[in-house]
Amino acid sequence: MAESVAQSQSGLARKPSASDKAPTASIPGAEVGEPPPKPQESETPLQVFRAGSPSSKQIALTFDDGPHGTITPRILDMLRERQVKATFFVLGDRVKHYEWVLRQIVAEGHEIGNHAYSHRILKFMSNDLIDREIAETQSAIRNAIGYETRLFRPPYGDFRPDTRAVFRKYNLEVILWSVDTLDWKLRNRDKIFNVAINDTHNGSIILCHDIHRATLEAVPDILGSLIAKGYEFVTISQLCGLPPMRLASVSAPPPPPPQTP
Ligand code: NI
Repeated sequence: MAESVAQSQSGLARKPSASDKAPTASIPGAEVGEPPPKPQESETPLQVFRAGSPSSKQIALTFDDGPHGTITPRILDMLRERQVKATFFVLGDRVKHYEWVLRQIVAEGHEIGNHAYSHRILKFMSNDLIDREIAETQSAIRNAIGYETRLFRPPYGDFRPDTRAVFRKYNLEVILWSVDTLDWKLRNRDKIFNVAINDTHNGSIILCHDIHRATLEAVPDILGSLIAKGYEFVTISQLCGLPPMRLASVSAPPPPPPQTP
Protein backbone atom coordinates (compact mmCIF):
# COMPACT_ATOMS: atom_id res chain seq x y z
CA MET A 1 0.00 0.00 0.00
CA ALA A 2 1.26 3.40 -0.92
CA GLU A 3 0.89 4.75 2.57
CA SER A 4 3.02 2.13 4.30
CA VAL A 5 5.70 2.30 1.59
CA ALA A 6 5.93 6.03 2.05
CA GLN A 7 6.15 5.61 5.78
CA SER A 8 8.81 2.93 5.59
CA GLN A 9 10.87 5.18 3.33
CA SER A 10 10.53 7.95 5.81
CA GLY A 11 12.27 5.76 8.35
CA LEU A 12 9.59 3.95 10.36
CA ALA A 13 10.86 0.59 11.61
CA ARG A 14 9.33 -2.26 9.67
CA LYS A 15 10.45 -5.79 8.90
CA PRO A 16 10.89 -5.83 5.10
CA SER A 17 10.22 -9.54 4.71
CA ALA A 18 6.76 -9.47 6.19
CA SER A 19 5.27 -6.79 3.97
CA ASP A 20 7.13 -7.77 0.83
CA LYS A 21 6.17 -11.38 0.95
CA ALA A 22 2.79 -11.31 2.55
CA PRO A 23 0.23 -9.32 0.62
CA THR A 24 -2.49 -11.53 2.07
CA ALA A 25 -4.70 -10.26 4.84
CA SER A 26 -3.03 -9.81 8.19
CA ILE A 27 -4.10 -8.15 11.39
CA PRO A 28 -3.67 -4.43 10.84
CA GLY A 29 -1.28 -2.87 13.26
CA ALA A 30 -0.05 -6.23 14.60
CA GLU A 31 3.38 -5.89 13.04
CA VAL A 32 5.97 -3.80 14.80
CA GLY A 33 6.10 -0.36 13.24
CA GLU A 34 2.98 -0.85 11.15
CA PRO A 35 0.72 2.18 11.53
CA PRO A 36 -2.56 1.48 13.33
CA PRO A 37 -5.62 1.49 11.09
CA LYS A 38 -6.89 4.99 10.57
CA PRO A 39 -10.42 5.51 11.79
CA GLN A 40 -12.74 6.51 8.97
CA GLU A 41 -14.25 9.94 9.15
CA SER A 42 -17.63 8.34 9.72
CA GLU A 43 -16.29 6.60 12.83
CA THR A 44 -16.36 9.73 14.97
CA PRO A 45 -18.15 8.97 18.21
CA LEU A 46 -21.89 9.39 18.17
CA GLN A 47 -23.36 11.00 21.22
CA VAL A 48 -26.49 9.53 22.74
CA PHE A 49 -27.91 11.82 25.39
CA ARG A 50 -30.35 10.58 28.04
CA ALA A 51 -29.91 13.38 30.57
CA GLY A 52 -27.87 16.44 31.41
CA SER A 53 -25.58 17.06 34.36
CA PRO A 54 -26.77 15.62 37.70
CA SER A 55 -25.10 18.51 39.48
CA SER A 56 -27.26 21.18 37.86
CA LYS A 57 -30.88 22.09 38.49
CA GLN A 58 -31.38 22.44 34.74
CA ILE A 59 -33.90 20.10 33.10
CA ALA A 60 -35.39 19.83 29.62
CA LEU A 61 -39.02 19.34 28.69
CA THR A 62 -39.48 17.63 25.33
CA PHE A 63 -42.58 17.09 23.21
CA ASP A 64 -42.76 14.37 20.58
CA ASP A 65 -44.98 13.41 17.64
CA GLY A 66 -46.27 16.89 16.76
CA PRO A 67 -46.68 19.47 15.58
CA HIS A 68 -50.41 19.55 16.34
CA GLY A 69 -52.58 22.33 14.95
CA THR A 70 -54.30 23.22 18.23
CA ILE A 71 -52.49 21.47 21.09
CA THR A 72 -48.96 22.65 20.20
CA PRO A 73 -49.94 26.36 20.02
CA ARG A 74 -51.69 26.07 23.39
CA ILE A 75 -48.62 24.46 24.92
CA LEU A 76 -46.57 27.33 23.48
CA ASP A 77 -48.90 29.76 25.31
CA MET A 78 -48.27 27.92 28.59
CA LEU A 79 -44.50 27.89 28.06
CA ARG A 80 -44.51 31.60 27.24
CA GLU A 81 -46.52 32.39 30.38
CA ARG A 82 -43.86 30.72 32.53
CA GLN A 83 -40.93 31.87 30.39
CA VAL A 84 -39.92 28.27 29.86
CA LYS A 85 -37.95 26.92 26.88
CA ALA A 86 -38.62 23.44 25.52
CA THR A 87 -37.72 21.17 22.60
CA PHE A 88 -40.15 19.72 20.06
CA PHE A 89 -39.26 16.50 18.21
CA VAL A 90 -41.43 16.69 15.13
CA LEU A 91 -42.59 14.18 12.54
CA GLY A 92 -41.80 15.11 8.94
CA ASP A 93 -45.20 13.87 7.88
CA ARG A 94 -46.88 16.45 10.14
CA VAL A 95 -44.47 19.33 9.60
CA LYS A 96 -45.62 19.87 6.04
CA HIS A 97 -49.19 20.48 7.28
CA TYR A 98 -48.21 22.76 10.16
CA GLU A 99 -45.22 24.79 9.02
CA TRP A 100 -46.65 27.85 10.76
CA VAL A 101 -46.54 26.00 14.09
CA LEU A 102 -42.85 25.22 13.59
CA ARG A 103 -42.15 28.85 12.83
CA GLN A 104 -43.94 29.85 16.01
CA ILE A 105 -41.94 27.28 18.03
CA VAL A 106 -38.56 28.69 16.96
CA ALA A 107 -39.75 32.31 17.03
CA GLU A 108 -40.46 31.85 20.73
CA GLY A 109 -36.99 30.48 21.45
CA HIS A 110 -37.70 26.76 21.58
CA GLU A 111 -35.82 24.08 19.68
CA ILE A 112 -36.84 21.65 16.98
CA GLY A 113 -35.64 18.06 16.73
CA ASN A 114 -36.15 15.44 14.02
CA HIS A 115 -38.37 12.49 15.08
CA ALA A 116 -38.28 10.78 11.65
CA TYR A 117 -40.99 11.04 9.04
CA SER A 118 -43.61 8.38 9.64
CA HIS A 119 -42.92 7.17 13.21
CA ARG A 120 -42.13 3.63 12.10
CA ILE A 121 -39.85 1.40 14.21
CA LEU A 122 -36.32 2.04 12.92
CA LYS A 123 -35.09 -1.38 14.08
CA PHE A 124 -37.17 -3.06 11.40
CA MET A 125 -36.23 -0.71 8.58
CA SER A 126 -33.28 -0.73 6.19
CA ASN A 127 -30.74 2.03 6.64
CA ASP A 128 -31.68 3.30 3.17
CA LEU A 129 -35.26 3.80 4.29
CA ILE A 130 -34.14 5.38 7.56
CA ASP A 131 -31.90 7.70 5.58
CA ARG A 132 -34.89 8.75 3.50
CA GLU A 133 -37.05 9.32 6.60
CA ILE A 134 -34.40 11.53 8.17
CA ALA A 135 -33.65 13.43 4.95
CA GLU A 136 -37.30 14.13 4.21
CA THR A 137 -37.89 15.36 7.73
CA GLN A 138 -34.80 17.58 7.63
CA SER A 139 -36.07 18.98 4.34
CA ALA A 140 -39.55 19.61 5.77
CA ILE A 141 -38.01 21.37 8.79
CA ARG A 142 -35.76 23.47 6.54
CA ASN A 143 -38.70 24.47 4.36
CA ALA A 144 -40.58 25.61 7.44
CA ILE A 145 -37.91 27.44 9.46
CA GLY A 146 -34.98 27.93 7.09
CA TYR A 147 -32.48 25.61 8.75
CA GLU A 148 -32.09 21.98 9.73
CA THR A 149 -31.83 20.44 13.16
CA ARG A 150 -28.90 18.67 14.83
CA LEU A 151 -31.14 16.74 17.21
CA PHE A 152 -32.71 13.38 16.47
CA ARG A 153 -34.98 11.24 18.59
CA PRO A 154 -35.72 7.80 17.14
CA PRO A 155 -39.38 6.76 17.41
CA TYR A 156 -39.77 4.56 20.52
CA GLY A 157 -36.17 5.45 21.42
CA ASP A 158 -34.88 2.39 19.64
CA PHE A 159 -32.43 1.80 16.79
CA ARG A 160 -29.86 -0.71 15.56
CA PRO A 161 -26.18 0.04 16.24
CA ASP A 162 -25.41 0.01 12.50
CA THR A 163 -27.87 2.88 11.95
CA ARG A 164 -25.48 5.20 13.77
CA ALA A 165 -23.77 5.74 10.40
CA VAL A 166 -26.96 7.36 9.08
CA PHE A 167 -27.20 9.66 12.10
CA ARG A 168 -23.56 10.66 11.61
CA LYS A 169 -24.18 11.41 7.94
CA TYR A 170 -26.66 14.12 8.97
CA ASN A 171 -24.54 15.30 11.95
CA LEU A 172 -27.33 14.35 14.31
CA GLU A 173 -27.01 13.89 18.05
CA VAL A 174 -29.34 11.20 19.39
CA ILE A 175 -31.50 12.51 22.20
CA LEU A 176 -33.37 10.01 24.39
CA TRP A 177 -34.91 10.78 27.80
CA SER A 178 -34.71 9.92 31.49
CA VAL A 179 -38.31 10.66 32.52
CA ASP A 180 -41.14 9.06 30.56
CA THR A 181 -44.43 10.64 31.62
CA LEU A 182 -46.29 7.79 29.86
CA ASP A 183 -48.81 10.43 28.78
CA TRP A 184 -49.59 8.47 25.61
CA LYS A 185 -50.80 5.58 27.80
CA LEU A 186 -52.12 7.24 30.97
CA ARG A 187 -54.19 9.92 29.21
CA ASN A 188 -54.96 11.33 32.65
CA ARG A 189 -53.88 14.76 33.84
CA ASP A 190 -53.16 13.82 37.48
CA LYS A 191 -51.30 10.61 36.67
CA ILE A 192 -49.11 12.35 34.08
CA PHE A 193 -48.39 15.13 36.58
CA ASN A 194 -47.42 12.63 39.31
CA VAL A 195 -44.99 10.73 37.08
CA ALA A 196 -43.35 13.94 35.90
CA ILE A 197 -42.96 15.34 39.40
CA ASN A 198 -41.85 12.12 41.12
CA ASP A 199 -39.31 11.06 38.48
CA THR A 200 -37.64 14.38 37.69
CA HIS A 201 -34.17 15.02 39.09
CA ASN A 202 -31.26 17.27 38.21
CA GLY A 203 -30.49 17.03 34.49
CA SER A 204 -33.68 15.15 33.61
CA ILE A 205 -34.94 15.03 30.05
CA ILE A 206 -38.73 14.72 30.32
CA LEU A 207 -40.68 13.03 27.54
CA CYS A 208 -44.22 14.21 26.71
CA HIS A 209 -46.32 14.30 23.55
CA ASP A 210 -47.93 17.47 22.22
CA ILE A 211 -50.79 15.55 20.63
CA HIS A 212 -52.82 14.52 23.72
CA ARG A 213 -55.35 16.65 25.53
CA ALA A 214 -54.40 15.18 28.93
CA THR A 215 -50.80 16.28 28.35
CA LEU A 216 -52.01 19.78 27.62
CA GLU A 217 -53.99 19.75 30.87
CA ALA A 218 -51.00 18.49 32.88
CA VAL A 219 -48.40 20.93 31.53
CA PRO A 220 -49.27 24.04 33.61
CA ASP A 221 -48.99 22.19 36.93
CA ILE A 222 -45.86 20.31 35.83
CA LEU A 223 -44.22 23.64 35.00
CA GLY A 224 -45.44 25.34 38.16
CA SER A 225 -44.42 22.51 40.47
CA LEU A 226 -40.95 21.96 39.02
CA ILE A 227 -40.21 25.68 38.92
CA ALA A 228 -41.27 25.87 42.59
CA LYS A 229 -38.75 23.11 43.32
CA GLY A 230 -36.02 25.29 41.85
CA TYR A 231 -35.59 23.64 38.48
CA GLU A 232 -34.75 25.66 35.39
CA PHE A 233 -36.21 24.52 32.07
CA VAL A 234 -33.75 24.81 29.17
CA THR A 235 -33.53 23.55 25.60
CA ILE A 236 -31.82 20.26 24.80
CA SER A 237 -28.82 22.08 23.31
CA GLN A 238 -28.37 24.01 26.54
CA LEU A 239 -28.87 20.96 28.75
CA CYS A 240 -26.46 18.80 26.78
CA GLY A 241 -23.84 21.49 26.19
CA LEU A 242 -24.32 21.51 22.43
CA PRO A 243 -23.72 24.65 20.34
CA PRO A 244 -26.79 26.81 19.76
CA MET A 245 -28.87 25.31 16.99
CA ARG A 246 -28.73 28.10 14.47
CA LEU A 247 -24.95 28.36 14.43
CA ALA A 248 -24.52 24.72 13.55
CA SER A 249 -27.13 24.77 10.83
CA VAL A 250 -27.61 25.87 7.30
CA SER A 251 -28.63 29.51 7.45
CA ALA A 252 -32.01 30.23 5.93
CA PRO A 253 -31.75 29.06 2.31
CA PRO A 254 -34.67 29.82 0.04
CA PRO A 255 -37.06 26.90 -0.46
CA PRO A 256 -35.79 24.53 -3.16
CA PRO A 257 -37.33 24.90 -6.63
CA PRO A 258 -39.90 22.26 -7.55
CA GLN A 259 -38.20 19.16 -8.90
CA THR A 260 -39.15 17.83 -12.31
CA PRO A 261 -38.54 14.11 -12.69
NI1 NI B 1 -42.78 9.37 19.12
